[in-house]
Amino acid sequence: MYDLSLPCHVIFGENAVDTLPGLMAKHPGTAGAGKMLLVTSEVMAWNRPVIERIRSILFKGGVETAVFDGIEPNPTLANIDTGKIQYRAMGCDAVMALGGGSPIDAAKIIAHDCGAGALVAVPTTAGTGSEVSGWSVISDSTTLEKRSVFTRAPDMALLDPVLTATMPPRLTFFTAVDAFSHALESYLSKSANCFSDSLAFKSIFLTAQHLAPAVNSGHDLTARTGLLEASLLSGIAMMSAGLGAGHALANTIGGIYHDSVHGWLVAQILENVWQFNKEKRADKIRDIDPAVQQIFTRIRDLSRQLNLDTDTLKKQHLDLIVENSLKNVNMQTNPRDATREDLMVLLGNCFKCV
Ligand SMILES: [Fe+2]
Repeated sequence: MYDLSLPCHVIFGENAVDTLPGLMAKHPGTAGAGKMLLVTSEVMAWNRPVIERIRSILFKGGVETAVFDGIEPNPTLANIDTGKIQYRAMGCDAVMALGGGSPIDAAKIIAHDCGAGALVAVPTTAGTGSEVSGWSVISDSTTLEKRSVFTRAPDMALLDPVLTATMPPRLTFFTAVDAFSHALESYLSKSANCFSDSLAFKSIFLTAQHLAPAVNSGHDLTARTGLLEASLLSGIAMMSAGLGAGHALANTIGGIYHDSVHGWLVAQILENVWQFNKEKRADKIRDIDPAVQQIFTRIRDLSRQLNLDTDTLKKQHLDLIVENSLKNVNMQTNPRDATREDLMVLLGNCFKCV
């Protein structure tokens, strides 16, 4: 048995953002929005023009905006509480999630808890997949855990590859590897099904084709479009099939090491998890193996090119990482059952442990 619903309306296309007010007015879930809280991460040189462009488009379409740019990477409950205060203080009636996975995940909870009339997600990175689901991953700074919680799916997800063209090379790399990991883990998942397989399969081939061009020449819109589609497809696949040990480990480590970068954690873990799992899925991997090998080679090459250092884990944290990973929801759909010892070996192979 599998179960599938697409909870939000998806629009994809170059400069689709220009049509946003008209699209919102026509859609029953988003019509009538008067003042939107734009929930985003820290405004920096690369994303400032995107935010200003969207504010201007909404203003011309009769929608007021207020910006809340207080969402940190690996967002915390405190970030979300501040966003809720801002929403109410600014008299908003709708929320726009604008950015990568962190602001989109946080915005869903703000919209849910504040009873926002509409929630629109506009990704400016190509990796999260969060724009099409009701799931959020939130860091609890008291328990040092990252929890996956079901909140509210966006009413509309608007994906415009032009908005991703100013992403710096490292962010392009991290987010694309994250999208690839969603595709690969959902393809190998215990809950994979024909629907999720079709999406994950196509997503893997899009990443193989477009990863290096997008990192090396950001304004290549063909590559940007390919990676954004790869992210969208894998985001829907993981909603249906779940993920695996790669995300159980990455999310657990991210809860303990708050400054870690999710996509880079995944990049360091994924090939080892693939080696651990692939015998269990020998029937399925033949068709994807050449593309997967090509992507792993690219990941190694680009990691060197971008001067990325292997992350360090403290030995005193390893037991906690293993315990929490075994309990993490993503571990339930990993194709091969992992023991404590298996995870210790994986961590030792992927990271510097001191
Ligand atoms: Fe991820």
